[in-house]
Amino acid sequence: MMSKLTIGIIGAGKLGMTLAKLGIDAGYTINISGSKAPEKIDLSVSVLAKGANTMLTKDVIENSDVIILALPLSKYHLLDSKLLKDKIVIDAMNYWWEIDGDESQYYDEKTTSSENVQKYFAESIIIKAFNHMGYHDLAATTGKNQAMVYAGNNQEALEKVAEIIKDFGFVPYYLGTLDQTNPLQPHGSLFGVSADVTEVEKILSK
Ligand SMILES: NC(=O)c1ccc[n+]([C@@H]2O[C@H](COP(=O)([O-])OP(=O)(O)OC[C@H]3O[C@@H](n4cnc5c(N)ncnc54)[C@H](OP(=O)(O)O)[C@@H]3O)[C@@H](O)[C@H]2O)c1
Repeated sequence: MMSKLTIGIIGAGKLGMTLAKLGIDAGYTINISGSKAPEKIDLSVSVLAKGANTMLTKDVIENSDVIILALPLSKYHLLDSKLLKDKIVIDAMNYWWEIDGDESQYYDEKTTSSENVQKYFAESIIIKAFNHMGYHDLAATTGKNQAMVYAGNNQEALEKVAEIIKDFGFVPYYLGTLDQTNPLQPHGSLFGVSADVTEVEKILSK
């Protein structure tokens, strides 16, 4: 059996911690960072995602095969895109006006937020996943046949992310390319949805 990829999570808040716990439970090596020194998150990680390694963000990136962006959308531009060159990067971020600002440059009706993330991380492969379910639903419904809708443009990376989704306890459901991710965004038909594949298909066919 192939050994599991090491997953790096940038953002140690509600979503990042929940994904770290799912990853640990699935047998992955998990590296995680917040915006500050690793010591700042040691205690919460030891309670919420015991076994995950806390590091500075640059070390998370350097030491992980796949990176999950679990920080506010308005903060990703603070990351050095060069450090993520050639990596598979899972974009789990959403534009949330209370956090990211009303007049936000991160909201653009003509493109999806993931397309903009892909533009910024031009040398990385962006796959959108883990963004449409609330963290509490992620924690409560793992292993219960719920669909995790994902999207992206690179077949090899999509297959790897589908494996991760399965290992985390969900059924991967491929939506389309990054320009087709409107249903996953806030106000989209799949945003906030925790449902099985049949229900997801029903929602998308409306
Ligand atoms: N909450 C959900 O249920 C949910 C579900 C799906 C998707 N999302 C999306 O996931 C993202 C995170 O949401 P959340 O609810 O988890 O937010 P949160 O609880 O506020 O956590 C945000 C985390 O990002 C970290 N962070 C901020 N700036 C950073 C930087 N420059 N470098 C590294 N880490 C940084 C914060 O670290 P510090 O505390 O050190 O600042 C904090 O650990 C958002 O884009 C959100 O839309 C959330």
